Amino acid sequence: MNRVMHSSRIAACSQRIGPLGETRPDAGSGDAQWPSSRTRSSASSQPDFDTPENIKRAGIKAIEQGKTKYTNVDGIPELKAAIARKFKRENGLDYKPSQISVGTGGKQVLYNAFVATLNPGDEVIIPAPYWVSYPDMVLLAGGTPVAVETTFESRFKMKPEQLARAVTPNTKWLIFNSPSNPTGAAYTRAELKALTDVLIQHPQVWILSDDIYEHLVYDEFEFTTPAQVEPALYDRTLTLNGVSKAYCMTGWRIGYAAGPESLIKAMATIQSQSTSNPSSISQWASVEALDGPQDFIPKHNDVFKQRRDLVVSMLNQANGLQCPKPQGAFYVYPSCAGTMGRKAPSGKKLATDEDFVTELLESEGVAVVQGTAFGLGPAFRISYATKTEALEEACRRIQRFCGNLT
Ligand SMILES: Cc1ncc(COP(=O)(O)O)c(C=O)c1O
Repeated sequence: MNRVMHSSRIAACSQRIGPLGETRPDAGSGDAQWPSSRTRSSASSQPDFDTPENIKRAGIKAIEQGKTKYTNVDGIPELKAAIARKFKRENGLDYKPSQISVGTGGKQVLYNAFVATLNPGDEVIIPAPYWVSYPDMVLLAGGTPVAVETTFESRFKMKPEQLARAVTPNTKWLIFNSPSNPTGAAYTRAELKALTDVLIQHPQVWILSDDIYEHLVYDEFEFTTPAQVEPALYDRTLTLNGVSKAYCMTGWRIGYAAGPESLIKAMATIQSQSTSNPSSISQWASVEALDGPQDFIPKHNDVFKQRRDLVVSMLNQANGLQCPKPQGAFYVYPSCAGTMGRKAPSGKKLATDEDFVTELLESEGVAVVQGTAFGLGPAFRISYATKTEALEEACRRIQRFCGNLT
């Protein structure tokens, strides 16, 4: 009785979604780790490097100087100016401060954008595999997520004809995430242009480009973003980024976006009635992150690239696995289709990727996340934002697990 009463108090929108990190993969639970338990939810989808010293010092200085009061709701002018410089310098994009919004992580900025724009019946196209928060945020905001499944053969990239087929008169947004969580796939300029060519024909569709992994690209890959590749889409593109990944600042919680002034204003109004400004201290540290030395980024990328190469090579030597080599982020997304129908040491016949990850955890103590949770299987995701020795051992165990399947 009590349970019924309690659940009837919970709004329908929050019952449509699930929590991160418990039964569903969070940003962090996809790492190959051991020992581990099923419910482990370490926040490890984040660089294992510490926040650079100069950025830490800027945070400490802000505290010492008493910059510890409320600030403008969506960002101090100094940070907005640093963000404008970043967009100009790195993406060739011009934004005024009134076109920029700063929030408590990219996550809050995304959420604000959906709440500010979605009405019941509005559709949001999300290429799969996708970051699990996208569909849930869309649902929370009252919209309808529309997944477009990519394939291993296309290296998880959506084709223009797939996008054209998915667009309807009700489509409000396309979420574009390159490099991607969970696959690491990144679109070349030509691949992106083919998509923007489709979007030009559909003025009702806005583009939310989640560029959070912009700096984590390897092998000379050239990062590009939709508003840069197709200036005609500038007026209907929200370009999202943040300091979490490239600057190793996940806990500082600063994300930002730039786009049309009217949208940015509506997002600020929503933020003003929920959290108000993001931490003043983190904002000052982020000014230093964006304006200060950037030389640690290529150094970190050298390590990430070595780990990616190691993991891809070791997984491709495992029986029944096929692991594409992605261009960016810190994830790989191997197919385990070749193991389906085989028997694990426990005697269980593997029928799904969930069986695969459960049996792998049970027999080898290695935790990975099943691909179906991200909208495309049979596959799994491994994050290589963890110590190289740990990764190597995890891959050895995966090889042994696959080798023992009968
Ligand atoms: C694809 C993607 N977008 C956005 C975010 C949000 O990052 P934050 O809220 O730390 O800025 C994440 C975090 O894992 C992510 O993977």
